[in-house]
Amino acid sequence: MKIKVISESPEETQKIASFFTESVLRQRNFKEQEALIVSLEGSLGSGKTEFLKGVAKFLQLKERIFSPTFLIMKSFPLIRKKPFKTLWHLDCYRLKKIKDIKELGFLEVTEDPENLIFVEWGDRIKEVLSKHRFTIKFKVVGNKERILEFNIPEKFD
Ligand SMILES: Nc1ncnc2c1ncn2[C@@H]1O[C@H](COP(=O)(O)OP(=O)(O)OP(=O)(O)O)[C@@H](O)[C@H]1O
Ligand SMILES: [Mg+2]
Repeated sequence: MKIKVISESPEETQKIASFFTESVLRQRNFKEQEALIVSLEGSLGSGKTEFLKGVAKFLQLKERIFSPTFLIMKSFPLIRKKPFKTLWHLDCYRLKKIKDIKELGFLEVTEDPENLIFVEWGDRIKEVLSKHRFTIKFKVVGNKERILEFNIPEKFD
């Protein structure tokens, strides 16, 4: 299932992120066997990090999410956000080889159902992302206008 949403400002993108995160938390089945993965795809400056800021706000993270220059993978503890214990933020823009992400222990991270994972430039590491992942494609259509296309995995249809 695909859902297209128009955002007209960074603030709106954050609100959309907050709605998305709320519904994911509400619908998450406690018996899941693997992490929940959200792949964020779209050109530079299309709003992927802005979306993550909205996720972080909704999850009441104290630490700020920012566009990391050297970071590939960062974790944030989640308190009272069952069934998740940890939020992971990956930015694969600078990733050269899939091997590099494997060496950081990413596969183990994807196996733990208590992990909630958001991957900027997730299209670059498709081969290691579960086919049950969510995908959000960001399109720049104007100075402040973005189209967010949500691809909802089958089991949520
Ligand atoms: N509707 C909108 N939604 C999100 N960001 C917007 C919107 N309108 C304008 N912007 C601006 O676009 C920029 C989006 O930057 P952001 O860092 O989120 O992009 P990104 O997709 O993460 O890029 P990168 O691939 O470099 O990490 C910000 O400067 C933000 O203020
Ligand atoms: Mg970014």
